[in-house]
Formats: sequence, structure tokens, C-alpha cells
Amino acid sequence: MTVPDRAQAPVLLQVDAILSRLTGRAALEEVCRFLRLSFAHYPWVGVYRLHGAELVLDAWDGPRATEHVRIPVERGICGQAVREERTVIVDDVRSDPNYLACFIETRAEIVVPVRHGGRVVGEIDIDGNSVRAFDASDRRFLESVAAKLGDALVRSAAETPPG
Ligand code: SME
Repeated sequence: MTVPDRAQAPVLLQVDAILSRLTGRAALEEVCRFLRLSFAHYPWVGVYRLHGAELVLDAWDGPRATEHVRIPVERGICGQAVREERTVIVDDVRSDPNYLACFIETRAEIVVPVRHGGRVVGEIDIDGNSVRAFDASDRRFLESVAAKLGDALVRSAAETPPG
């Protein structure tokens, strides 16, 4: 249990508070910051938006930027999660041939699809620095967060693209 049930409710309430105050990309950036701040095993948190056959990095928080700001859906753990429309947990990225490397210290990854009107519109991507950093409690928690982000992702798509 890396995110105990009792820790989930207050964080989910805080995510609701962020989403009532901010919209679109600003909301996604704040949620990334808040998740990273809340859990030490979430050192890099990003949100990708599905745009045609590509994933576009809309918001992130972490020590460094990733070079993977656009990922074709046929590539990476990120692509796998949207293609298969399910959460993907990789215990050790060094033994996953699909993994696209971003940071030297990354050992584990979790990618959780975000839906809007039943359709996958993007995903939450978290890189962890230890093997088996993520378990079923992270999956449950992040699927609850993802269920709140559909509107913000769709609004973000309507905003001017970043950079
Ligand atoms: N590792 C991901 C690429 C994105 S970075 O983790 C930020 C993947 O394999 O799709």
C-alpha cells in the first residue's frame, strides 16, 4: 500500500478544490504540482493529451523537463496505456522493451488513462525512482484522480498550445 486509503480522500478533496478554482492547462499544472508534493514516491508527474495519433505533454511537475513532449501512440508505456485503454504499471523499466527513457534515475512507471464521455482523451504519467514504486493502491488512487480530469484536458486542448 503506497497510497493508504485514509490518505486518498483528503487528496481527492484537494484535487476537487483545484478543479473548482482553475480550468484547462492551469488546472492540470496545479494537479501535477499537488500530486508531486503530496507523495514522495511521485517525483515526476505529467499529463499527456491525446491529439490524433500523438500524445502531447500538456502539464508536468518535476525536477527536470522531459524530451518526450510528443509521443506517437504506437510508442512507449504512454502509448500502450492509451492503445489498451487501461492503467499500465511497470515495476522495472529496465526490463520493459517498450519503455522510452526520460530520466536516468527512473525505475518504475505508472500510466493511467483519462476519459471524457467514455472516450480516452489523455493520461496521467508518473515516473518513480525505485523498482516496484507503484502498486494497486496507486492504481486505485490515480484512477480516481483521472476520473476528475476529463473536462480540464478537453479545455486544455482548446487553449493555445504550450511553447
Ligand atoms: N517513459 C515514457 C515516456 C514519457 S516520460 O516517462 C516522461 C514511456 O515509456 O512512454
